[in-house]
Amino acid sequence: MRQVFGSGADLVSISRYKDILVSRGIDWGLLGPREVDRIWGRHILNSAAVAELIPDHASAADVGSGAGLPGIPVAILRADLTVDLIEPLLRRSNFLTHSVDDLGITDRVSVRRERAEQVGRTYDAVLSRALAPLDRLIRWCLPLMKPDGQILAIKGASAGRELADHDRLIRASGLSADIVTPQASPDVEPTTVVRLRLA
Ligand SMILES: C[S@@+](CC[C@H](N)C(=O)[O-])C[C@H]1O[C@@H](n2cnc3c(N)ncnc32)[C@H](O)[C@@H]1O
Repeated sequence: MRQVFGSGADLVSISRYKDILVSRGIDWGLLGPREVDRIWGRHILNSAAVAELIPDHASAADVGSGAGLPGIPVAILRADLTVDLIEPLLRRSNFLTHSVDDLGITDRVSVRRERAEQVGRTYDAVLSRALAPLDRLIRWCLPLMKPDGQILAIKGASAGRELADHDRLIRASGLSADIVTPQASPDVEPTTVVRLRLA
């Protein structure tokens, strides 16, 4: 189940993050108690799968990071990345700050307590998971994307319908879109990712 986190150090870190999610994450109301049994497949590995789509040594933003998904698993898996976790809500951003401290990754992972619209910088990869419908997501994330960068939005079964529904906006924004399905482990469902780049 966890073999994508191959090296000893990665496995220790991701296991530590899992422990934080199922303890402080539940205590602080960021995760429902019923999620404990599916924390690896539904949350951690679902998030980690997006890591393989990000270029080497990239800057990445996780917009609406919540409890750190997908940004923290991606940062643990990819020590070459710098990652900003963007989360406007106080309790969630405090949780992220504690988690990043506990995991010892403050040298390359930062917490920004802001809305996407306030960030004012650009990234090679703009990540999100369960952030918003695609039209709002594009409005928030496109200003954060470098001209040669990409938006990688983790979506569920709605991905194809959302692309069809928002085809005009995608074209009008000068974007091209596709759906990719990376898989962090053969034991779990592939992750459905909407990838947007300048056309
Ligand atoms: C449904 S949660 C998803 C959290 C996490 N990505 C996950 O998959 O578990 C959506 C998050 O987006 C944040 N959010 C809402 N509007 C935002 C905005 N304009 N900019 C950045 N984050 C936003 C919310 O505070 C919330 O934490």
